[in-house]
Amino acid sequence: MSLTTADAQSGVYNDKVVRQFAVMAVVWGVVGMLVGVIIAAQLTWPALNLGIEWLSYGRLRPLHTNAVIFAFGGCVLFATSYYVVQRTCHTRLALGKLAAFTFWGWQLVIVLAAVTLPLGLTSGKEYAELIWPIDILIALVWVSYGVVFFATIGTRKVRHIYVANWFFGAMILTVAVLHVVNSAALPTGWLHAYSAYAGVQDAMIQWWYGHNAVGFFLTAGFLGIMYYFIPKQAERPIYSYRLSIVHFWALIFTYMWAGPHHLHYTALPDWTQSLGMVFSLILLAPSWGGMINGIMTLSGAWHKLRDDPILRFLIVSLSFYGMSTFEGPMMSIKTVNALSHYTDWTVGHVHSGALGWVGLISMGALYYLIPRLFGQKQMFSKPAIEWHFWLACIGIVLYIAAMWIAGVMQGLMWRAIGEDGMLVYTFSESVRASYPFYVIRLLGGVLYLGGMLIMAWNVWMTIRQGLRAGDVPSVKIPAPAHA
Ligand code: HEM
Ligand code: HEM
Repeated sequence: MSLTTADAQSGVYNDKVVRQFAVMAVVWGVVGMLVGVIIAAQLTWPALNLGIEWLSYGRLRPLHTNAVIFAFGGCVLFATSYYVVQRTCHTRLALGKLAAFTFWGWQLVIVLAAVTLPLGLTSGKEYAELIWPIDILIALVWVSYGVVFFATIGTRKVRHIYVANWFFGAMILTVAVLHVVNSAALPTGWLHAYSAYAGVQDAMIQWWYGHNAVGFFLTAGFLGIMYYFIPKQAERPIYSYRLSIVHFWALIFTYMWAGPHHLHYTALPDWTQSLGMVFSLILLAPSWGGMINGIMTLSGAWHKLRDDPILRFLIVSLSFYGMSTFEGPMMSIKTVNALSHYTDWTVGHVHSGALGWVGLISMGALYYLIPRLFGQKQMFSKPAIEWHFWLACIGIVLYIAAMWIAGVMQGLMWRAIGEDGMLVYTFSESVRASYPFYVIRLLGGVLYLGGMLIMAWNVWMTIRQGLRAGDVPSVKIPAPAHA
């Protein structure tokens, strides 16, 4: 049911756009992870490329990264930020039509990506592969997102701006700047453009973008989710509000400088690489400060973890966040990076953050949201949430442990030098040695995807139950509070 004008005036939240983004997050999650499983299988058995160029690994890989980060992760961020900003500001989402445009515009971006990437149309910049006309659409949607979000903050009925909104706001602003600067290009036609930058400057800007895409898209936004959904689900106040403010400023200041750790031992000036390393090491402190703040919110209520699988998703995601933000600074140390770079260790690090942190916290937040958005007290099946949780956890462990072992092994094999001063192993020997680990990674991916399919079924059943019971609910905005 869409809201009537009377509803809008009588003061109910705009949950329609939240519902749309939440449902599409589940759909794109399944699609993106399925493509992940396919490329994991292709790395194990290259014949699965099937000799068809559209299905070749090189084309499906960016489809996977774009689908999981921007389609799945993006829809989760839109849904949660639109929900949280209304609830914490006691006001209806501003500019309803523009908010609807952000939904349809973002879906159009995703569909265009799904068409152009398999066709091999790409700008060649990692995580910014889409061609320039789509980049312009992204910029329009993203700026509209910012306008809707900040206009809602501007019409808030509560004086205080809750810390989750700071994180969402920083994410929106920074991603806009990153996207516009990194995508600057000179078009030569509708499908091709030259980057506005050249050589090492191009690389530097690309990894300033790439690292901050991790820092703001995959981290700051999801920390916004943490600061709202963990206290809500645990029914406890955040452990330390003061720490959350220190966490915010320290994190956003430090992330900006760490990008050069992606360019160790390249043509980038040495001092820039060292600066990136030092800031990456400093980044451990705010990252762990945030993790501790989230986990300690449970103090006095640890028992809730035993029978609340949704809370378990949210809290275990923080353990993986802590793990990947410990590992990242270690990998940024130049001597460690000399071993890890180009190996599957990086892929293991990525997925401990992506599957463990981003994936699990998104699932926890969606399990919180879906029943509320469709007028249900809880999800259709609690055992299904339990199954999802354990499949996901086992899947992550198999995936990342296999990649760590394969990565360290590859690094050691590539640098092994015999007494005669010659390399001990050929490259193809290191590929052959990695094979068993690719099979284990594939198994991990299948389990993780299996969990996601269970979630999709559970979400579908919950929505169906909600729709059968009548109209989707309109939630009234509480009377103005004075904070
Ligand atoms: C079923 C789950 C998943 C599977 C099986 C999977 C599999 C893969 C594979 C095989 C690669 C290519 C690795 C390589 O080039 O050697 C990859 C890359 C990547 N995936 Fe996933 N993935 C999954 C879920 C996710 C999720 C949920 C995210 C993010 C939220 C994600 C983010 C990435 C990123 C950022 C890369 C690029 C890594 C790099 O360049 O080092 N993946 N994935
Ligand atoms: C303190 C926090 C972190 C630091 C200092 C850090 C550091 C690093 C380093 C040193 C690399 C390897 C660069 C290379 O050798 O090419 C890397 C790669 C990567 N990290 Fe992190 N990391 C952190 C947290 C995270 C988190 C939480 C995520 C995911 C949510 C993540 C996602 C990635 C991705 C996607 C890459 C691969 C980029 C590519 O080459 O395609 N990182 N990170």
